[in-house]
Amino acid sequence: MKRSKIASVIANEPIGQEVLVCGWVRTFRNNQFIALNDGSTIKNLQCVVPFEDTDESILKKITTGAAVRLRGSVVASQGRGQNIEIKVSDIDIVGEADPEKYPLQPKKHSLEFLREIAHLRFRTNTFSAITRIRHTAAFAIHDFFHQRGFVYISSPIITGSDAEGAGEMFQVTALDLDNIPTDEQGTVDYKQDFFGKKTHLTVSGQLEAELAALALSDVYTFGPTFRAENSNTSRHLAEFWMIEPEIAFADIYDDMDLAEDMLKHILKSVMTRCTDDLQFLENRLLAEEKNKPQQERSPMTLRDKLQFCIDESYERITYTEAIRILKNSKPNKKKKFNFIIDQWGADLQSEHERYLVEKHFKKPVIITGYPKDIKAFYMRVNDDDMTVAAMDILFPGIGEIIGGSQREERMNVLLQRMKDFDIHPDEMEWFLDTRRFGTCPHAGFGLGFERLVMFVTGMSNIRDVIPFPRYPGSAEF
Ligand code: 4AD
Ligand code: MG
Repeated sequence: MKRSKIASVIANEPIGQEVLVCGWVRTFRNNQFIALNDGSTIKNLQCVVPFEDTDESILKKITTGAAVRLRGSVVASQGRGQNIEIKVSDIDIVGEADPEKYPLQPKKHSLEFLREIAHLRFRTNTFSAITRIRHTAAFAIHDFFHQRGFVYISSPIITGSDAEGAGEMFQVTALDLDNIPTDEQGTVDYKQDFFGKKTHLTVSGQLEAELAALALSDVYTFGPTFRAENSNTSRHLAEFWMIEPEIAFADIYDDMDLAEDMLKHILKSVMTRCTDDLQFLENRLLAEEKNKPQQERSPMTLRDKLQFCIDESYERITYTEAIRILKNSKPNKKKKFNFIIDQWGADLQSEHERYLVEKHFKKPVIITGYPKDIKAFYMRVNDDDMTVAAMDILFPGIGEIIGGSQREERMNVLLQRMKDFDIHPDEMEWFLDTRRFGTCPHAGFGLGFERLVMFVTGMSNIRDVIPFPRYPGSAEF
Protein backbone atom coordinates (compact mmCIF):
# COMPACT_ATOMS: atom_id res chain seq x y z
CA MET A 1 0.00 0.00 0.00
CA LYS A 2 1.25 3.43 -0.91
CA ARG A 3 1.82 5.95 1.84
CA SER A 4 -0.54 8.92 1.98
CA LYS A 5 0.71 12.26 3.22
CA ILE A 6 -1.31 13.67 6.08
CA ALA A 7 -1.96 16.92 4.22
CA SER A 8 -3.79 15.07 1.48
CA VAL A 9 -5.74 12.83 3.88
CA ILE A 10 -6.96 15.89 5.78
CA ALA A 11 -7.72 17.82 2.60
CA ASN A 12 -9.53 14.98 0.78
CA GLU A 13 -11.24 13.28 3.73
CA PRO A 14 -11.45 9.88 1.99
CA ILE A 15 -14.00 8.47 4.43
CA GLY A 16 -14.38 4.69 4.24
CA GLN A 17 -11.00 4.16 2.57
CA GLU A 18 -7.95 2.32 3.89
CA VAL A 19 -4.83 4.46 4.21
CA LEU A 20 -1.22 4.05 5.22
CA VAL A 21 0.24 7.04 7.03
CA CYS A 22 3.71 7.57 8.41
CA GLY A 23 4.96 10.27 10.74
CA TRP A 24 6.08 11.25 14.20
CA VAL A 25 3.94 11.08 17.29
CA ARG A 26 3.24 14.53 18.70
CA THR A 27 1.14 13.31 21.63
CA PHE A 28 -0.46 10.08 22.76
CA ARG A 29 -3.55 10.59 24.92
CA ASN A 30 -5.46 8.08 27.06
CA ASN A 31 -3.49 5.18 25.59
CA GLN A 32 -5.70 5.69 22.56
CA PHE A 33 -5.35 8.92 20.58
CA ILE A 34 -2.19 9.56 18.58
CA ALA A 35 -1.72 13.06 17.20
CA LEU A 36 0.40 12.22 14.16
CA ASN A 37 2.42 14.73 12.18
CA ASP A 38 4.47 14.09 9.05
CA GLY A 39 5.48 17.66 8.24
CA SER A 40 3.26 17.91 5.17
CA THR A 41 0.92 20.21 7.11
CA ILE A 42 0.80 21.96 10.45
CA LYS A 43 -2.28 19.86 11.22
CA ASN A 44 -1.99 16.61 13.13
CA LEU A 45 -3.95 13.57 12.10
CA GLN A 46 -5.86 11.93 14.91
CA CYS A 47 -5.26 8.20 14.86
CA VAL A 48 -7.27 6.03 17.21
CA VAL A 49 -5.50 2.96 18.51
CA PRO A 50 -7.56 -0.11 19.50
CA PHE A 51 -5.78 -0.24 22.84
CA GLU A 52 -7.60 -3.30 24.13
CA ASP A 53 -6.35 -5.35 21.18
CA THR A 54 -2.87 -3.89 21.16
CA ASP A 55 0.16 -5.30 22.94
CA GLU A 56 1.19 -3.36 26.01
CA SER A 57 4.79 -3.42 24.70
CA ILE A 58 3.69 -1.60 21.52
CA LEU A 59 1.55 0.93 23.38
CA LYS A 60 4.57 1.78 25.55
CA LYS A 61 6.57 2.70 22.48
CA ILE A 62 4.03 5.19 21.18
CA THR A 63 5.69 8.20 22.74
CA THR A 64 6.21 11.81 21.71
CA GLY A 65 8.82 11.90 18.96
CA ALA A 66 8.59 8.25 17.92
CA ALA A 67 8.30 7.43 14.20
CA VAL A 68 5.36 5.19 13.36
CA ARG A 69 3.68 3.64 10.35
CA LEU A 70 -0.06 3.23 10.75
CA ARG A 71 -2.68 1.49 8.65
CA GLY A 72 -6.34 2.00 9.14
CA SER A 73 -9.59 3.27 7.74
CA VAL A 74 -10.66 6.87 7.52
CA VAL A 75 -13.79 7.55 9.55
CA ALA A 76 -15.76 10.63 10.51
CA SER A 77 -14.53 11.83 13.87
CA GLN A 78 -16.84 11.97 16.86
CA GLY A 79 -14.52 14.29 18.74
CA ARG A 80 -14.23 18.02 18.32
CA GLY A 81 -11.31 19.62 16.56
CA GLN A 82 -11.17 17.36 13.50
CA ASN A 83 -13.56 16.11 10.84
CA ILE A 84 -11.90 12.78 10.30
CA GLU A 85 -9.69 10.34 12.12
CA ILE A 86 -7.97 7.05 11.39
CA LYS A 87 -9.31 3.92 12.94
CA VAL A 88 -5.99 2.15 13.27
CA SER A 89 -5.71 -1.55 12.40
CA ASP A 90 -1.92 -1.98 12.13
CA ILE A 91 0.81 -0.25 14.10
CA ASP A 92 4.45 -0.38 13.18
CA ILE A 93 6.92 1.37 15.48
CA VAL A 94 9.61 2.50 13.05
CA GLY A 95 11.85 4.50 15.36
CA GLU A 96 11.51 4.76 19.10
CA ALA A 97 12.08 7.96 21.09
CA ASP A 98 12.90 7.45 24.75
CA PRO A 99 10.52 9.81 26.56
CA GLU A 100 13.01 10.20 29.39
CA LYS A 101 15.60 11.59 27.01
CA TYR A 102 13.70 13.19 24.12
CA PRO A 103 14.25 16.96 24.50
CA LEU A 104 11.00 18.07 22.85
CA GLN A 105 8.12 17.62 25.21
CA PRO A 106 4.55 18.44 24.20
CA LYS A 107 4.66 21.88 25.78
CA LYS A 108 5.82 25.35 24.74
CA HIS A 109 9.58 25.66 24.48
CA SER A 110 11.33 29.02 24.23
CA LEU A 111 12.82 30.00 20.86
CA GLU A 112 16.19 30.36 22.58
CA PHE A 113 16.06 26.77 23.79
CA LEU A 114 14.98 25.54 20.36
CA ARG A 115 17.92 27.33 18.77
CA GLU A 116 20.22 25.21 20.92
CA ILE A 117 18.58 22.06 19.58
CA ALA A 118 18.20 23.32 16.03
CA HIS A 119 18.66 19.76 14.75
CA LEU A 120 15.31 18.86 16.33
CA ARG A 121 13.38 22.08 16.01
CA PHE A 122 12.05 21.14 12.56
CA ARG A 123 9.71 18.92 14.59
CA THR A 124 7.97 21.83 16.27
CA ASN A 125 4.87 23.53 14.90
CA THR A 126 6.54 26.91 14.74
CA PHE A 127 9.64 25.81 12.94
CA SER A 128 7.93 23.45 10.52
CA ALA A 129 5.50 26.24 9.58
CA ILE A 130 8.42 28.61 9.01
CA THR A 131 10.23 26.01 6.94
CA ARG A 132 7.24 25.37 4.68
CA ILE A 133 6.72 29.11 4.23
CA ARG A 134 10.40 29.57 3.46
CA HIS A 135 10.09 26.93 0.76
CA THR A 136 6.95 28.51 -0.68
CA ALA A 137 8.60 31.92 -0.79
CA ALA A 138 11.67 30.52 -2.57
CA PHE A 139 9.46 28.75 -5.07
CA ALA A 140 7.42 31.93 -5.64
CA ILE A 141 10.62 33.83 -6.39
CA HIS A 142 11.77 31.38 -9.04
CA ASP A 143 8.23 31.32 -10.40
CA PHE A 144 8.05 35.12 -10.58
CA PHE A 145 11.29 35.47 -12.52
CA HIS A 146 10.65 32.47 -14.71
CA GLN A 147 7.26 33.87 -15.75
CA ARG A 148 8.98 37.07 -16.77
CA GLY A 149 11.66 35.40 -18.84
CA PHE A 150 14.55 35.91 -16.44
CA VAL A 151 17.45 33.49 -16.55
CA TYR A 152 18.67 31.99 -13.28
CA ILE A 153 22.43 32.43 -12.90
CA SER A 154 24.65 30.60 -10.44
CA SER A 155 27.20 33.13 -9.29
CA PRO A 156 30.38 31.82 -7.68
CA ILE A 157 30.53 31.26 -3.95
CA ILE A 158 34.30 31.40 -3.81
CA THR A 159 35.48 34.63 -5.35
CA GLY A 160 38.80 36.15 -6.26
CA SER A 161 37.32 39.62 -6.41
CA ASP A 162 37.00 41.68 -3.27
CA ALA A 163 35.65 44.87 -4.77
CA GLU A 164 31.96 44.69 -3.89
CA GLY A 165 32.68 46.34 -0.57
CA ALA A 166 29.38 45.15 0.86
CA GLY A 167 30.93 43.90 4.05
CA GLU A 168 33.76 42.11 5.75
CA MET A 169 34.71 38.88 4.02
CA PHE A 170 35.60 35.37 5.09
CA GLN A 171 38.85 34.25 3.60
CA VAL A 172 39.02 30.86 1.89
CA THR A 173 42.34 29.09 1.94
CA ALA A 174 43.84 25.64 1.62
CA LEU A 175 47.13 26.80 3.10
CA ASP A 176 48.31 25.14 6.29
CA LEU A 177 47.75 27.91 8.79
CA ASP A 178 50.35 26.41 11.10
CA ASN A 179 52.93 26.62 8.37
CA ILE A 180 52.16 29.56 6.11
CA PRO A 181 54.41 29.99 3.05
CA THR A 182 55.90 33.47 2.74
CA ASP A 183 57.79 35.33 0.04
CA GLU A 184 61.07 37.27 0.36
CA GLN A 185 59.28 40.19 2.04
CA GLY A 186 57.83 37.85 4.63
CA THR A 187 54.25 38.30 3.46
CA VAL A 188 51.95 35.38 2.76
CA ASP A 189 52.67 33.79 -0.61
CA TYR A 190 49.20 33.23 -2.01
CA LYS A 191 50.69 31.88 -5.23
CA GLN A 192 51.07 28.68 -3.28
CA ASP A 193 47.44 28.69 -2.17
CA PHE A 194 44.85 26.49 -3.88
CA PHE A 195 43.75 29.08 -6.44
CA GLY A 196 47.13 30.75 -6.72
CA LYS A 197 45.68 33.92 -5.26
CA LYS A 198 43.84 35.24 -2.24
CA THR A 199 40.18 34.18 -2.25
CA HIS A 200 37.05 34.82 -0.20
CA LEU A 201 33.46 33.72 0.22
CA THR A 202 31.22 35.97 -1.81
CA VAL A 203 29.32 38.85 -0.19
CA SER A 204 27.09 39.27 -3.24
CA GLY A 205 26.58 37.81 -6.69
CA GLN A 206 25.83 41.19 -8.20
CA LEU A 207 28.97 41.87 -10.19
CA GLU A 208 28.74 38.49 -11.89
CA ALA A 209 25.00 39.00 -12.46
CA GLU A 210 25.85 42.25 -14.24
CA LEU A 211 28.12 40.36 -16.62
CA ALA A 212 25.29 37.97 -17.44
CA ALA A 213 22.66 40.69 -17.77
CA LEU A 214 24.77 42.42 -20.39
CA ALA A 215 24.18 39.43 -22.62
CA LEU A 216 20.96 37.78 -21.45
CA SER A 217 19.09 41.00 -20.56
CA ASP A 218 17.19 39.77 -17.50
CA VAL A 219 18.87 37.48 -14.99
CA TYR A 220 18.80 36.70 -11.31
CA THR A 221 20.86 34.87 -8.75
CA PHE A 222 19.57 33.12 -5.66
CA GLY A 223 22.34 31.86 -3.48
CA PRO A 224 24.14 32.02 -0.19
CA THR A 225 26.22 35.07 0.66
CA PHE A 226 28.61 35.55 3.54
CA ARG A 227 29.52 38.53 5.66
CA ALA A 228 32.00 38.49 8.50
CA GLU A 229 30.67 41.70 9.98
CA ASN A 230 30.48 41.45 13.74
CA SER A 231 26.85 42.46 13.93
CA ASN A 232 25.24 40.45 16.65
CA THR A 233 21.72 41.65 15.90
CA SER A 234 18.35 40.05 15.33
CA ARG A 235 18.51 41.08 11.65
CA HIS A 236 22.02 39.98 10.64
CA LEU A 237 23.45 36.60 9.76
CA ALA A 238 26.99 35.73 8.73
CA GLU A 239 25.54 33.39 6.11
CA PHE A 240 22.32 34.45 4.42
CA TRP A 241 20.59 33.90 1.11
CA MET A 242 20.19 36.69 -1.36
CA ILE A 243 18.11 37.09 -4.50
CA GLU A 244 19.78 39.44 -6.96
CA PRO A 245 18.03 40.28 -10.23
CA GLU A 246 19.85 42.37 -12.80
CA ILE A 247 18.05 43.96 -15.75
CA ALA A 248 19.55 45.48 -18.89
CA PHE A 249 18.24 48.55 -20.72
CA ALA A 250 16.57 49.56 -17.49
CA ASP A 251 16.81 52.42 -15.02
CA ILE A 252 16.18 52.91 -11.32
CA TYR A 253 12.43 53.28 -11.88
CA ASP A 254 12.23 49.94 -13.69
CA ASP A 255 14.22 48.52 -10.80
CA MET A 256 11.79 49.83 -8.18
CA ASP A 257 8.79 48.57 -10.15
CA LEU A 258 10.36 45.13 -10.46
CA ALA A 259 11.13 44.97 -6.74
CA GLU A 260 7.66 46.02 -5.71
CA ASP A 261 6.02 43.56 -8.13
CA MET A 262 8.28 40.77 -6.91
CA LEU A 263 7.56 41.40 -3.22
CA LYS A 264 3.84 41.47 -3.86
CA HIS A 265 4.00 38.29 -5.91
CA ILE A 266 5.80 36.46 -3.09
CA LEU A 267 3.39 37.72 -0.43
CA LYS A 268 0.38 36.74 -2.52
CA SER A 269 1.78 33.33 -3.19
CA VAL A 270 2.44 32.63 0.50
CA MET A 271 -1.00 34.00 1.43
CA THR A 272 -2.74 31.60 -0.92
CA ARG A 273 -0.54 28.54 -0.44
CA CYS A 274 0.25 28.65 3.28
CA THR A 275 -3.09 29.50 4.89
CA ASP A 276 -2.83 27.03 7.78
CA ASP A 277 0.77 27.87 8.57
CA LEU A 278 0.06 31.60 8.51
CA GLN A 279 -2.94 31.17 10.73
CA PHE A 280 -0.84 29.21 13.20
CA LEU A 281 1.91 31.85 13.21
CA GLU A 282 -0.64 34.63 13.50
CA ASN A 283 -2.11 33.03 16.62
CA ARG A 284 1.35 32.43 17.98
CA LEU A 285 2.11 36.12 17.53
CA LEU A 286 -1.15 37.20 19.15
CA ALA A 287 -0.38 35.03 22.18
CA GLU A 288 3.15 36.43 22.37
CA GLU A 289 1.91 40.00 22.13
CA LYS A 290 -0.57 39.53 24.97
CA ASN A 291 2.41 39.79 27.31
CA LYS A 292 3.53 43.09 25.83
CA PRO A 293 2.39 46.57 26.80
CA GLN A 294 -0.38 47.91 24.55
CA GLN A 295 1.80 50.39 22.65
CA GLU A 296 4.26 47.65 21.63
CA ARG A 297 1.59 45.43 20.15
CA SER A 298 1.23 45.57 16.43
CA PRO A 299 -1.97 47.23 15.24
CA MET A 300 -2.51 44.54 12.57
CA THR A 301 -2.61 40.77 12.61
CA LEU A 302 0.04 38.95 10.62
CA ARG A 303 -2.20 38.25 7.63
CA ASP A 304 -3.66 41.76 7.65
CA LYS A 305 -0.11 43.06 7.52
CA LEU A 306 0.77 40.86 4.54
CA GLN A 307 -2.43 41.79 2.75
CA PHE A 308 -1.72 45.45 3.43
CA CYS A 309 1.69 45.13 1.76
CA ILE A 310 0.05 43.49 -1.24
CA ASP A 311 -2.66 46.14 -1.64
CA GLU A 312 -0.78 49.36 -0.88
CA SER A 313 1.60 50.99 -3.29
CA TYR A 314 4.92 51.64 -1.62
CA GLU A 315 5.79 55.21 -0.72
CA ARG A 316 8.65 56.48 -2.88
CA ILE A 317 10.73 59.30 -1.43
CA THR A 318 14.20 60.66 -1.92
CA TYR A 319 16.90 60.48 0.70
CA THR A 320 16.74 64.28 0.94
CA GLU A 321 13.03 64.12 1.80
CA ALA A 322 13.71 61.36 4.31
CA ILE A 323 16.30 63.51 6.06
CA ARG A 324 13.88 66.44 6.20
CA ILE A 325 11.18 64.27 7.76
CA LEU A 326 13.58 62.73 10.23
CA LYS A 327 15.11 66.07 11.22
CA ASN A 328 11.66 67.41 12.08
CA SER A 329 10.52 64.22 13.78
CA LYS A 330 9.68 64.06 17.48
CA PRO A 331 12.26 61.42 18.41
CA ASN A 332 14.96 63.46 16.69
CA LYS A 333 13.99 66.72 18.39
CA LYS A 334 13.63 65.00 21.76
CA LYS A 335 16.92 63.20 21.18
CA LYS A 336 15.27 59.81 21.45
CA PHE A 337 17.18 58.41 18.48
CA ASN A 338 20.56 56.90 19.29
CA PHE A 339 21.90 58.65 16.22
CA ILE A 340 20.58 62.20 15.91
CA ILE A 341 20.01 63.33 12.33
CA ASP A 342 21.53 66.78 12.06
CA GLN A 343 22.69 67.05 8.49
CA TRP A 344 22.33 65.83 4.96
CA GLY A 345 24.81 63.06 4.27
CA ALA A 346 24.20 61.05 7.41
CA ASP A 347 23.70 57.32 6.94
CA LEU A 348 20.27 56.11 7.98
CA GLN A 349 20.25 53.69 10.90
CA SER A 350 17.57 51.08 11.39
CA GLU A 351 15.85 53.26 14.03
CA HIS A 352 15.38 55.95 11.35
CA GLU A 353 14.19 53.48 8.74
CA ARG A 354 11.66 52.06 11.15
CA TYR A 355 10.44 55.50 12.14
CA LEU A 356 9.74 56.36 8.50
CA VAL A 357 7.93 53.10 7.83
CA GLU A 358 6.12 52.43 11.09
CA LYS A 359 5.40 55.91 12.43
CA HIS A 360 5.46 58.36 9.56
CA PHE A 361 4.20 56.66 6.40
CA LYS A 362 2.79 53.52 7.99
CA LYS A 363 3.55 51.50 4.87
CA PRO A 364 6.57 50.17 2.96
CA VAL A 365 8.87 52.93 1.81
CA ILE A 366 11.36 53.09 -1.06
CA ILE A 367 14.14 55.62 -0.56
CA THR A 368 16.13 56.76 -3.60
CA GLY A 369 18.92 59.18 -4.31
CA TYR A 370 21.37 58.49 -1.50
CA PRO A 371 24.53 60.57 -1.06
CA LYS A 372 27.20 59.05 -3.26
CA ASP A 373 29.75 58.92 -0.45
CA ILE A 374 27.79 56.43 1.62
CA LYS A 375 26.97 54.05 -1.22
CA ALA A 376 28.93 51.60 -3.37
CA PHE A 377 31.20 52.55 -6.27
CA TYR A 378 29.05 50.85 -8.91
CA MET A 379 25.93 52.94 -8.32
CA ARG A 380 25.09 55.40 -11.05
CA VAL A 381 25.97 59.01 -10.24
CA ASN A 382 23.00 61.36 -10.66
CA ASP A 383 23.18 64.64 -12.58
CA ASP A 384 23.51 66.60 -9.31
CA ASP A 385 26.87 64.83 -8.83
CA MET A 386 25.99 64.46 -5.14
CA THR A 387 23.66 61.52 -5.11
CA VAL A 388 23.50 58.09 -6.73
CA ALA A 389 20.56 56.23 -8.27
CA ALA A 390 20.31 53.86 -5.32
CA MET A 391 17.16 52.51 -3.78
CA ASP A 392 16.46 50.80 -0.47
CA ILE A 393 13.11 49.23 0.34
CA LEU A 394 12.10 49.43 3.98
CA PHE A 395 9.48 47.14 5.48
CA PRO A 396 7.55 47.45 8.74
CA GLY A 397 9.23 45.65 11.62
CA ILE A 398 12.23 44.82 9.46
CA GLY A 399 13.76 48.00 8.09
CA GLU A 400 15.88 47.43 4.98
CA ILE A 401 14.69 44.37 3.11
CA ILE A 402 16.06 45.29 -0.32
CA GLY A 403 19.06 47.31 -1.45
CA GLY A 404 19.66 48.10 -5.10
CA SER A 405 20.61 50.66 -7.70
CA GLN A 406 20.97 51.62 -11.29
CA ARG A 407 24.55 50.77 -12.21
CA GLU A 408 27.17 53.19 -13.47
CA GLU A 409 27.41 52.24 -17.13
CA ARG A 410 29.68 55.15 -18.21
CA MET A 411 33.30 54.02 -18.29
CA ASN A 412 34.87 57.36 -17.40
CA VAL A 413 32.55 57.99 -14.45
CA LEU A 414 32.99 54.43 -13.21
CA LEU A 415 36.78 54.72 -13.35
CA GLN A 416 36.64 57.94 -11.35
CA ARG A 417 34.38 56.33 -8.76
CA MET A 418 36.74 53.36 -8.43
CA LYS A 419 39.56 55.79 -7.87
CA ASP A 420 37.56 57.54 -5.15
CA PHE A 421 37.00 54.18 -3.46
CA ASP A 422 40.63 53.08 -3.88
CA ILE A 423 39.72 50.17 -6.12
CA HIS A 424 42.43 49.35 -8.58
CA PRO A 425 41.15 48.92 -12.16
CA ASP A 426 43.61 46.04 -12.73
CA GLU A 427 41.58 43.85 -10.40
CA MET A 428 38.37 44.68 -12.21
CA GLU A 429 39.25 44.41 -15.88
CA TRP A 430 36.63 41.74 -16.40
CA PHE A 431 33.99 44.05 -14.94
CA LEU A 432 35.20 47.04 -16.91
CA ASP A 433 35.01 45.06 -20.14
CA THR A 434 31.21 45.23 -19.93
CA ARG A 435 31.50 49.03 -20.01
CA ARG A 436 34.17 48.90 -22.67
CA PHE A 437 32.15 46.73 -25.04
CA GLY A 438 28.45 47.30 -25.55
CA THR A 439 27.69 49.00 -22.28
CA CYS A 440 24.08 49.93 -21.58
CA PRO A 441 21.98 51.29 -18.73
CA HIS A 442 21.15 48.52 -16.28
CA ALA A 443 19.95 48.09 -12.75
CA GLY A 444 19.38 45.50 -10.07
CA PHE A 445 18.82 44.85 -6.43
CA GLY A 446 19.40 42.37 -3.63
CA LEU A 447 16.61 40.95 -1.52
CA GLY A 448 17.71 39.49 1.80
CA PHE A 449 15.78 36.22 1.83
CA GLU A 450 15.78 35.75 5.60
CA ARG A 451 14.56 39.32 6.15
CA LEU A 452 11.68 38.52 3.85
CA VAL A 453 10.93 35.28 5.69
CA MET A 454 11.01 37.19 8.99
CA PHE A 455 8.43 39.56 7.65
CA VAL A 456 6.17 36.88 6.27
CA THR A 457 6.29 34.70 9.38
CA GLY A 458 6.23 37.54 11.90
CA MET A 459 9.31 36.13 13.62
CA SER A 460 11.41 38.75 15.35
CA ASN A 461 14.80 37.05 15.25
CA ILE A 462 16.50 36.21 11.96
CA ARG A 463 18.11 33.18 13.63
CA ASP A 464 14.69 31.55 13.73
CA VAL A 465 13.95 31.70 10.00
CA ILE A 466 16.96 29.76 8.66
CA PRO A 467 17.52 26.14 9.69
CA PHE A 468 21.09 26.51 10.93
CA PRO A 469 21.97 30.14 11.59
CA ARG A 470 25.57 31.32 11.46
CA TYR A 471 26.46 34.33 13.55
CA PRO A 472 29.46 35.54 15.55
CA GLY A 473 30.56 32.74 17.86
CA SER A 474 28.20 30.16 16.43
CA ALA A 475 28.46 27.67 13.59
CA GLU A 476 26.77 24.70 15.23
CA PHE A 477 25.44 21.76 13.23
O1 4AD B 1 22.26 46.19 0.69
P1 4AD B 1 23.13 45.02 0.38
O2 4AD B 1 24.46 44.95 1.04
O3 4AD B 1 23.27 45.03 -1.20
C1 4AD B 1 24.07 44.25 -1.96
O4 4AD B 1 24.75 43.34 -1.57
C2 4AD B 1 23.94 44.54 -3.44
N1 4AD B 1 25.07 43.90 -4.13
C3 4AD B 1 22.62 44.03 -3.93
C4 4AD B 1 22.40 44.30 -5.39
O5 4AD B 1 22.18 45.41 -5.79
N2 4AD B 1 22.43 43.28 -6.22
O6 4AD B 1 22.34 43.67 0.70
C5 4AD B 1 21.10 43.42 0.10
C6 4AD B 1 20.11 42.89 1.12
C7 4AD B 1 19.79 43.88 2.25
O7 4AD B 1 18.82 44.79 1.86
C8 4AD B 1 19.32 42.95 3.34
O8 4AD B 1 17.97 42.59 3.14
C9 4AD B 1 20.16 41.72 3.12
O9 4AD B 1 20.65 41.76 1.79
N3 4AD B 1 21.32 41.64 4.04
C10 4AD B 1 21.40 40.79 5.07
N4 4AD B 1 20.55 39.86 5.53
C11 4AD B 1 20.93 39.13 6.60
N5 4AD B 1 22.12 39.28 7.23
C12 4AD B 1 23.02 40.20 6.80
N6 4AD B 1 24.20 40.33 7.40
C13 4AD B 1 22.67 41.01 5.68
N7 4AD B 1 23.30 42.00 4.99
C14 4AD B 1 22.45 42.36 4.00
MG1 MG C 1 22.09 47.85 1.88
